[in-house]
Amino acid sequence: MSDQPLHPDTVAVHAGRADFGALGVHAAPIDLSSTNPLPDILHGGDSYESMANGGHPLPDGGNVYARLWNPTVARFEEALSELEHAEASVAFASGMAAMTAAILSHTTAVGRHHVVAVRPLYGGTDHLLDSGLLGVEVTFCDEDAVAASIRPETGLIVLETPANPTLDLVDIAAVVAQAGGVPVLVDNTFATPLLQNPLDLGASMSLHSATKYIGGHGDVIAGVIACSEQTAEALRRVRAITGALLHPLGAYLLHRGLATLPVRMQTQQAAARAVAAQLQQHPAVLEVRYPEYDDTRGLIGRQMRGGGAMVSIRLAGGYAAAEALTDAVRLFAHAVSLGGVDSLIQHPAALTHRPVAPEARPGADIVRLSIGLENVDDLMADLEQALAKTRSAAEV
Ligand SMILES: Cc1ncc(COP(=O)(O)O)c(C=O)c1O
Repeated sequence: MSDQPLHPDTVAVHAGRADFGALGVHAAPIDLSSTNPLPDILHGGDSYESMANGGHPLPDGGNVYARLWNPTVARFEEALSELEHAEASVAFASGMAAMTAAILSHTTAVGRHHVVAVRPLYGGTDHLLDSGLLGVEVTFCDEDAVAASIRPETGLIVLETPANPTLDLVDIAAVVAQAGGVPVLVDNTFATPLLQNPLDLGASMSLHSATKYIGGHGDVIAGVIACSEQTAEALRRVRAITGALLHPLGAYLLHRGLATLPVRMQTQQAAARAVAAQLQQHPAVLEVRYPEYDDTRGLIGRQMRGGGAMVSIRLAGGYAAAEALTDAVRLFAHAVSLGGVDSLIQHPAALTHRPVAPEARPGADIVRLSIGLENVDDLMADLEQALAKTRSAAEV
């Protein structure tokens, strides 16, 4: 084979599989051991200490205990690192567990008690930051105000692009330039590593709710952070101490999901583009939010390789129309979450963004669509029949 770097769709299929030939397997082995035989007290203990501090198992000491290390999880992490152009990745029991570990490892663990967060963010992230639960103070701001919000004790900057649910884009490189060395975490859930690689733009961490596109089938809750090996050590330490490890069966499904991520994302993105374009013409729709629209800074192309497969709409009939629409759809499932093979619809203000402070909460007229792999004509037919009902609902 030539020395040319492989294309991402090839990497997605082959990453984390280099040892299959030597193992004599064609599918990833799943290691469900919760504990592991120890060679002897001294070496087992040394390995334990290495992992409790965020390091790897020592070759002659073993994996010791699955809260510290699991080979199936490590295999998924290795594959994700390749796709994110990262030295390392650390997987967690959920996207929120990953976010919690990122915040703790960059604040409380290092004596810095301030975070700068660019709004809008996923409601759960906003809630976590605003709750005070982690003992950090948070300054919420617009992306232009990051530099002005940084203090000597700022340990982390958090942003999300495209943002949930407005699909606003944030210029990652511009925020990194303002950060003055403070680590920047980018929630890359909506873009996936196929469309955006935040570390290439200077971010320190790329976080995914792997529950979404990486899993892709709505059957795993998980989070993962791609980063440097040094940052991974700090994250693994928090994971080991707080017990936020991803279950190996979940890791197996996520690793398998990576192989089809490129085709899923390309097909879902094409359908989302078509849905967004058609909805723009619809009289019941006030505004369509899609990352490729109003991209005055040229972030599509420079930062993101396409608009992705999420579309948000503002309805002319406001909340009543949202209620009618979510009641009337038949093919779209009325459910939170996103990024799976089937299309979902939900009302962020009432659900995913309910805990967000009123001034930052999305409007009651916004409905979010996650476009799946169904035929786009069938999806549009479902939306058309359901949108027709929003007009009569708004007239009542
Ligand atoms: C953008 C984004 N980040 C993080 C999360 C949290 O992930 P999880 O639900 O896997 O904890 C979500 C969940 O919806 C999300 O949409």
